[in-house]
Amino acid sequence: MKPMKLRDILAKKLTKKEMEFMTTSFDIVGDIAVIEIKPELEKKEKIIGEAILAMHKNIVTVCKRVGLHSGKFRTQKLRIIAGKRSKETVHKESGCRLKLHVEKCYFSVRSGTERLRIASMIKPKEDILVMFSGIGPFVCVIGKNCKYNSITGIELNPIAHKYAVENVEMNKIKSVKMVLGDVREVVPKMSKFDRIVMPLPRTAEEFLNTALTVAKKGTIIHLYGFLGEEEFEEHKKKIISICKDNGFKIKIKDLIKCGQFSPKVFRICVDFEVI
Ligand SMILES: C[S@@+](CC[C@H](N)C(=O)[O-])C[C@H]1O[C@@H](n2cnc3c(N)ncnc32)[C@H](O)[C@@H]1O
Repeated sequence: MKPMKLRDILAKKLTKKEMEFMTTSFDIVGDIAVIEIKPELEKKEKIIGEAILAMHKNIVTVCKRVGLHSGKFRTQKLRIIAGKRSKETVHKESGCRLKLHVEKCYFSVRSGTERLRIASMIKPKEDILVMFSGIGPFVCVIGKNCKYNSITGIELNPIAHKYAVENVEMNKIKSVKMVLGDVREVVPKMSKFDRIVMPLPRTAEEFLNTALTVAKKGTIIHLYGFLGEEEFEEHKKKIISICKDNGFKIKIKDLIKCGQFSPKVFRICVDFEVI
C-alpha cells in the first residue's frame, strides 16, 4: 500500500477551497517543524499541526511562521500550533549536533549544503574568521570536518552566542574562539585571517571594510547576498570597487547561487581572493 501523504490526510479534513491555500512543504529543525500557514487557513492550523505530528514520528512540535526574519539578530517570530510547548531543539548537520532556540536565534537548515561547500575549500593551517556566527553552524561544520589552524566566530545576539559556545563544546571543536560582540568593534583589533566567511546576506557588503582590516594577500572572502540574476554583474563590480577604495586589489573566483529567497531572488555567495 502506498504511504499516505500529508496532502491526502488533510484532504479529508479541509474543504477543497481550503486545500488550495495549503502549503505542504516545511522545514524540519531538529524535532521541530516550521511551516507557513496562509491567513485563510488560520482556523484550521491546529488540525494541520496535528496531521504533521501524526505523519512524522520524529517531529514533536509544529510551529508556524509569524512574519519574516527581522531586526539586527535576524530572528523570526514563531507560534506553536501543535505538540510539545518547546522551541528549543538539537539539529543534526554534517556530523554535528547544533542546539538552538528556533525563535530567539537565526538558523537556516537550508544552508547546510553551502556550509559543506565552504568546509570543502579549507586547507590545513588556515586561520578562519566567521563573522555573524549565530549558533555556530559554520564553525562546527568546519571544525568537525576540516583540518585548520584556528577558527574565530563573532556574534552579536547573546542568546545565539550562548548556544554557539555550547555547540562548540558539545561537538568537541578544537582551536576555536567564540566572541560575543559587534564585528565592527571586535574585528579591527584582531590579527589577519586566511579566510573570512560573511553570512549576513542583506547587508554583508556594509561590513566589507571591516573584514578588509584583517585581510592580507591570499585571504579568501565569502560574501553572501540576496540578488536577482540581473544584478549579479553589478554586484561583482561593487565589491571590486569597495575593496579598491580600501586599498585592496581582488580577484573574483566565483559567484554561486546557494538558495532561493523568492521566485526571482537568490541567496548568493561571492568568493574572492585578495591579490
Ligand atoms: C543570517 S544570520 C547567520 C547566522 C549563522 N552564521 C548561520 O548561518 O546560521 C546573521 C547573524 O549575524 C548576527 N549579527 C548581525 N549584526 C552583527 C554584527 N554587527 N556583529 C556580529 N554579529 C551580527 C545576527 O545576530 C545573526 O545571528
